[in-house]
Amino acid sequence: MRDLTSPGPGTYAWAVPGSKPADGSLLGVEDLDREAVTALLDRAEALAAGSPPHGACRGAPVGLLFHEPSTRTRLSFARAARWLGAEPQALGEAGSSAVKGESLLDTARTLEALGHRALVLRHARSGAPHRLAPKLSVPLVNAGDGMHEHPTQALLDALAVRRRLGRLDALTVVFVGDVLHSRVARSTARLFALFGASVRLCAPATLLPLTGAGFGGASLHTDLTEALEGADVVVALRVQRERLVGGPLPSLADYARGWRIEADALDRLAPRSVFLHPGPMNRGVEVSDEVADGPRSLVADQVASGVPVRAAVLERALVASA
Ligand code: NCD
Repeated sequence: MRDLTSPGPGTYAWAVPGSKPADGSLLGVEDLDREAVTALLDRAEALAAGSPPHGACRGAPVGLLFHEPSTRTRLSFARAARWLGAEPQALGEAGSSAVKGESLLDTARTLEALGHRALVLRHARSGAPHRLAPKLSVPLVNAGDGMHEHPTQALLDALAVRRRLGRLDALTVVFVGDVLHSRVARSTARLFALFGASVRLCAPATLLPLTGAGFGGASLHTDLTEALEGADVVVALRVQRERLVGGPLPSLADYARGWRIEADALDRLAPRSVFLHPGPMNRGVEVSDEVADGPRSLVADQVASGVPVRAAVLERALVASA
């Protein structure tokens, strides 16, 4: 079946035909193959272990354009940039000329003219970075676009899992929750699929996509017990209240009754199986406190992995734009 969310490597449904993003850009897991993922994760580990950042990073201005709320992603990109010796400059929509009607392209070109060597963009519209990147001369890193991709989240999920399980190969990875609206599920599923994962998506039918093709060839499930059978990695997704149009759920309490991840469900899995959540968590809705704070939980490890992963991605961008 043709996968409309992924028309092929290096091509995007929203891109300007014939143009391509600057080298060092990262718009989606779609841009990456297994070797590129491994190289970025290995570089993240090396940086975390004290390897000095490439000299091209020193003093380089990096623009952080966040047009949607963010805690973890925004703070960890800023920390990652500082860690490299670069100079992060955060620009939210509210404090920028966007409120005066300036287009995203004009804002980005202003930052380019000010000497920014790489830009990071979070945007509520799917495809916004793919439209913007080919018009810029500096690399662009996607920090989450609408319901589409969130590649650095996928990389940090992979690093957290690799650190705990010691491998990424051939895992059974189950996403539970609001898959339909989740850029995290789309990117993380694609990344694990590069390493031969068997991917499952589990949600109420109204929050599942029509096909698992854009999610690493995932199978679709509505029954949580069936979906969790034999899982190595369970990823709970936030019920994205801001994107729930048309009332796909009777109530959050009904969702919790059928799909909340509880300790007894995880205890039936292999002893080394792990629990992930990209945050922010709706505790009691997607996950019980016992699981979120329990020994299988990698939630804090995910956040901690975000800084070295984003440092590796920004270093790659800054080396390319030096
Ligand atoms: C996610 C996001 O914003 O895409 N959070 C994150 O970046 N860690 C997931 C979400 O908002 O549910």
